[in-house]
Amino acid sequence: MNAKSRRDFLRSCVASVSLPLLENRAWPQVHPKLPAIPLPYWSTRLERFIDPLPIPQRIHPEGKRGGALFYRVRMREFEKPLHSQLPPAKLWGYEGQCPGPLFEAMRGVPISVEWANELPKQHLFPIDTHIHGAASPAPAVRTVPHLHGSRTDSRSDGLPEAWFTPGHSVVFHYPNDQQAAPLWYHDHALGITRLNVYAGLSGFYFLRDGEELRMNLPAGDYEIPLVLQDRTLDKHGQLNYCPTYDDGTEAAPGRWGPQFFGELPIVNDAIYPRLDVEPRRYRFRLLNAANSRFFHLYLNLAGKPTDVPKLATFYQIGSDGGLLEAPVPLQRILLGPAERADLIVDFSSLEGKIITLSNDASAPYPGWDLLREIHPPLLELMQFRVVLPLTRSVRAFTMPSSIPLPPVDPADEVVTRDFVLSQRSDAQGKALAMLINNKGYDDPATVFPKLGSVEKWRFINTTDDSHPMHVHLVQFRIVERQGFDFGAFLRGKLEFVGQPRPPAPGEAGWKDTAIVNPQEVLTILIRFEGYEGKYVYHCHVAEHEDNDMMRPFIVVSAGAKPA
Ligand code: C2O
Ligand code: CU
Ligand code: CU
Repeated sequence: MNAKSRRDFLRSCVASVSLPLLENRAWPQVHPKLPAIPLPYWSTRLERFIDPLPIPQRIHPEGKRGGALFYRVRMREFEKPLHSQLPPAKLWGYEGQCPGPLFEAMRGVPISVEWANELPKQHLFPIDTHIHGAASPAPAVRTVPHLHGSRTDSRSDGLPEAWFTPGHSVVFHYPNDQQAAPLWYHDHALGITRLNVYAGLSGFYFLRDGEELRMNLPAGDYEIPLVLQDRTLDKHGQLNYCPTYDDGTEAAPGRWGPQFFGELPIVNDAIYPRLDVEPRRYRFRLLNAANSRFFHLYLNLAGKPTDVPKLATFYQIGSDGGLLEAPVPLQRILLGPAERADLIVDFSSLEGKIITLSNDASAPYPGWDLLREIHPPLLELMQFRVVLPLTRSVRAFTMPSSIPLPPVDPADEVVTRDFVLSQRSDAQGKALAMLINNKGYDDPATVFPKLGSVEKWRFINTTDDSHPMHVHLVQFRIVERQGFDFGAFLRGKLEFVGQPRPPAPGEAGWKDTAIVNPQEVLTILIRFEGYEGKYVYHCHVAEHEDNDMMRPFIVVSAGAKPA
């Protein structure tokens, strides 16, 4: 079956069979007028690779409070051109920066951050008040920052309903009691996360520890954060948020759509930037901070994006939650929204060369060829030019050979939980909502893991698209992925097909976000450590998370009765 007919097949199955898991519930009907997809405008007009890559500024503490370093971060509206040939765009940013300022924290050194909402009362984008949590009387401008990947007390986790309005602030505490990892912070306000993040509310948070520092990894000017996003600009160079349906048609103005794909690639908030580098090793910290777009990245030495790619090998040394057991040589790497990668690239034999950071992931991912016409992949993101002289003698650095990673022992597992990911569609097959076990965020919690226990979670994807599933509070391990028989599933049985596949080597370390592909089951093992209380798990496609592929879970004390 080709992808298109498989999609129709799935749709007809979901539409015709009423299974408890996929049952329908009342939902406002949407009858959007469908404007034609606008043709790419700026991608053919802007000169590529002329602007230097911006590097996020580090933020420094203002002092100490209650034994913790104290930081103050204000969310503000500001203007800045995203490309030197564009007028300034209106953006939202932490400390008036996009991406937000870079936090550098040390394991064992807790910090407190006062997050102040100093945004205007008017949102940059229309709010779809049909989305739960965004209906009146909820004000348009609400924010709550979340430190993604961090083991944080629930009260400081930035739960979606803990939002606050302009003129208010909160103080959150981050214990930094976990191994070195590329964490990141972003807005999480209920029902408008996609809009707040798209407006610019995200940033990197490097947690470091002694183990990492002893490795003599490239540091300072040679450690470069790369925050990858995509955006669409109107003819005046202002942000345009225009979500689409699976078939590429745009959602009605101001209404929710299941995905957003921008026309332009953004790296550290610059369009098609370039970085001049020395012929030496660099460490690149990658973050996919896009709303919906997956990036399948490679370093291309070929002259043009249409030439046969000539790939440079690089090494992945870390994933979401810390360093890998051993470096993994790669020529391509896939990052779903919210996934991070810690890479070493050696330019020492590439003097004088130009290398393009390229991407061939389709949108939606994994997609089908038909849609390539509608959302062309963003083939080129940025360029590295190996044109700088070697300024400092290169510090001795050997690739880490092996760091022992404690396993999460499957023998400790006490509960297996299944989470069915589905899409509710209208009669034309257009998405109305994305769901987990046919429930939305407002439905009561059903998941109560015990503090200290190990659970196996299986995400069962009945939709056509991949979902990057994220769990707050924890770093987990991927056990495997395996296909399942969709027909049997509709009859109420989970029957696996094919062989289970272990995680790719670059995913074999600590993860807080993992991709589950269409018609596959993703199995992960989680140890619930640190805190009791309420947390959330959700798809990190921001459009899905907002409506309504997000659910609460509550960590209960070890002695609690089983729920
Ligand atoms: Cu990156 Cu619930 O978040
Ligand atoms: Cu998170
Ligand atoms: Cu999703």
